[in-house]
Amino acid sequence: MKNIMVTGGAGFIGSAFVRYMLRQYDYNIIVFDKLTYAGNLDNLLTVQDEPRYKFVRGDIADRETVRRTLEANAIDTIVNFAAETHVDRSILDPDAFLKTNVFGTYVLLDEGHRAGIARFHHVSTDEVYGSIPVGAFKETDTLEPNSPYAASKAGSDMMVRAYHVTHGMHTTTTRGSNTFGPYQYPEKIAPFFITEALDDRPLPLYGDGMQVRDWLYVDDHAAGIDRVLHDGLPGEVYNVGGDNERHNIDVTRLILKLLSKPESLIRHVEDRPGHDRRYALDCTKAHRLGWKPQHTFEEALAETVEWYRRNEWWWRKIKTGAYLEYYKAQYAQRLAKAGAAGG
Ligand code: NAD
Ligand code: DAU
Repeated sequence: MKNIMVTGGAGFIGSAFVRYMLRQYDYNIIVFDKLTYAGNLDNLLTVQDEPRYKFVRGDIADRETVRRTLEANAIDTIVNFAAETHVDRSILDPDAFLKTNVFGTYVLLDEGHRAGIARFHHVSTDEVYGSIPVGAFKETDTLEPNSPYAASKAGSDMMVRAYHVTHGMHTTTTRGSNTFGPYQYPEKIAPFFITEALDDRPLPLYGDGMQVRDWLYVDDHAAGIDRVLHDGLPGEVYNVGGDNERHNIDVTRLILKLLSKPESLIRHVEDRPGHDRRYALDCTKAHRLGWKPQHTFEEALAETVEWYRRNEWWWRKIKTGAYLEYYKAQYAQRLAKAGAAGG
């Protein structure tokens, strides 16, 4: 490995991975990113003067630009983070999820195969398995995705599998759990609730708030991807979870406690359609490669809350314009109804 193309490297986890890889290794990192609403060059400000880093703006579904970038930079490795990632947006408008997550991943695989790259790592999600009431999903379990987002990620996972089986490509896949940390776009629950609470605004908790997610700190996620990229076996899938199962209501209460804000900010609003009740991963396979999360949930969440408190310059400019349009479409009615019912 020498020249790594990191697609979606201007997003939340991708940018953490780029910072991590530049710290750990001597590789050249070429970030390839469309800069959708979620892509943000501010996420890469700390590496912008690093000579081993380069940014290319492009769409993974655009074959010509992908091909040119692979050739011009002698890419030998692709790590694919690029995706539409928000479940609620996939319910409102799934088109881009199919185009990027399914077709875009196929284009990357096909052009990577054509260019003869040595490795293709695909970043996937625990959501492809669906919901599990007890126990934890293994990599061999059936995929039962429940949202358009999850279905599109499952489609991309299957395409990765097909390129390995059909063409013998050296692929690996990680399925990560709910990730949190600095630079996360403030639509996902942690940064959304932290930044709303900082402004004393209501926190719209879906349904009874008793859904369970397994929380993983972003640097631990980046380290897990790195371990599998280097030591994972060709064609294999690895679960990468935080072993931090928490109810949404408890995460919300902890955020409020860390900010010294009252629980009266919580509003139980109309649930997300098809809302998965619980995610949990069995990560034995990744642990056998020598990876384990290094951060405890409570400490990492406290650091994350502190980061948003200190970095208003980063999130205030995001929460304008199109963001407010989305907020209105997703929350205005829900909050109005919750208000009428007394929250
Ligand atoms: P994000 O939404 O913060 O970033 C996505 C990035 O992809 C953005 O920079 C965006 O501009 C870019 N992008 C989108 N469409 C593109 C296209 N067509 N071509 C090129 N770039 C494009 O996402 P994230 O939370 O950092 O997630 C990164 C990856 O990790 C995704 O594949 C996601 O499915 C997966 N994942 C996320 C989580 C999580 O909790 N956030 C957990 C497990 C897996
Ligand atoms: O599990 C991995 C997945 O985690 C990733 O693949 C996705 O890209 C990422 O977005 C995330 O999906 P979730 O749907 O779990 O994340 P989100 O932050 O949207 O929601 C987390 C939980 O909080 C979920 O049960 C829904 C709930 N929630 C979310 C929002 C945005 C609320 O109750 N209110 C909200 O306003």
